[in-house]
Amino acid sequence: MNAAVSAPVQFSAATIARFDREVAKYPPEQRISAVMACLSIIQQEQGWVSTEAEAALAAYIGVEPIAVHEVTTFYNMYNQRPVGKFKLNVCTNLPCQLRDGQKALHHLEHKLGIAMGETTPDGLFTLQQSECLGACADAPVMLVNDRHMCSFMSHDKLDQLVDGLRAAEGKA
Ligand code: FES
Repeated sequence: MNAAVSAPVQFSAATIARFDREVAKYPPEQRISAVMACLSIIQQEQGWVSTEAEAALAAYIGVEPIAVHEVTTFYNMYNQRPVGKFKLNVCTNLPCQLRDGQKALHHLEHKLGIAMGETTPDGLFTLQQSECLGACADAPVMLVNDRHMCSFMSHDKLDQLVDGLRAAEGKA
């Protein structure tokens, strides 16, 4: 028996009710169309989407696990592993590269003491690079927790953001 295999995920009745509301938006034969919304619900509730959660969602929808996994891995807003309280995604696509996107990422690596893709030991920040965020004219740009777009992120503004979030969490 493989000791590394994790226990299957069982969603709560409240979570299933949320899934049901998303699935009800589509014809019965198109339940798979609700997969993105359901993955977002899992991430809201658990902070990330494990392969076990993918498998449980696939069983709920009635598709093979790979049909869910290929969605999770296509969109970088889905966390495939636990992340810090604040996920910082810095755009490093070419237009941003031409306007210091990579420098902004390196500045944050230095400021946070972690490399891109890592989480600070206190669990507060995860630093990632991202593809185009659709705000090239505002470069350097970053997205905080997949929701809050931050534009024209000079080193000073990056410092203010990180220091402000640390202070808000009592870790200044
Ligand atoms: S390339 Fe960075 S927002 Fe478009």
